[in-house]
Amino acid sequence: MQIAIDGPAGAGKSTIAKQIAKTLNITYLDTGAMYRAITKGVIDRKIDFADQKAIAQYAASAVITFKGQRVFLDGEEVTEGIRTPEVSEHTSEVAPIPEVRKVLVQQQQRIAEGTDVIMDGRDIGSTVLPNADYKFYLDAAVSERAKRRYEELQEKGGLNGKTLTDIEADIARRDYNDSHRAVDPLVCCDDAVRIDTTHMTIPEVVACVIDHVEDGTAK
Ligand code: CDP
Ligand code: CDP
Repeated sequence: MQIAIDGPAGAGKSTIAKQIAKTLNITYLDTGAMYRAITKGVIDRKIDFADQKAIAQYAASAVITFKGQRVFLDGEEVTEGIRTPEVSEHTSEVAPIPEVRKVLVQQQQRIAEGTDVIMDGRDIGSTVLPNADYKFYLDAAVSERAKRRYEELQEKGGLNGKTLTDIEADIARRDYNDSHRAVDPLVCCDDAVRIDTTHMTIPEVVACVIDHVEDGTAK
């Protein structure tokens, strides 16, 4: 079974995908963590963000591994380090590079081979798993998504002086970049079920996805 979950930042993709994976006892892959990990590697190695060739070379050699919910880059744990506002901001400079996408999409497709999987990202239904059994596009008003991300960062102490307005502007900028890039932009596929989660609780969204999967109606 392959389930694709796409949508903009803060729509609830990873929260919902993790719970569905647990309920259905299938593998969860957070593809955003892979773009974030490459971005962290670029920052740590002080590679110039304008040097797309160097970034692509680094992406081809980097080794990203998952152990449960933990993420490792070249053997070092980066689970927390890939969630900083600095990494979030720079990921949308790294993610549009075609060679970076090629390398990561191939790795994602390899992981999905012969295993039941739920993946979340931006291009899962369109590019990574175009033949997925079930495709969902989670969305929510940008103000609600910013509020969710703000509260999450506030709880973790990761706001670094950012206000709710700053977070909303960051998210809106990232959504624009993700939707307008030339390669594998964020789109709601024609064969995806679109769920507006603005006024929905997490259990409500999980129940809605599970209902579609049990009905076999999400494609
Ligand atoms: O959690 P959040 O929605 O903020 O972001 P994420 O899923 O961790 O992804 C971070 C960034 O990686 C996105 O803004 C995209 O630029 C990029 N990304 C992508 O291009 N393709 C994917 N399949 C997943 C993420
Ligand atoms: O992966 P994505 O960026 O789409 O979103 P997320 O990281 O799963 O969710 C962002 C935050 O919104 C988390 O703190 C979730 O607990 C929260 N959330 C929520 O409050 N209500 C929902 N219906 C979905 C997510």
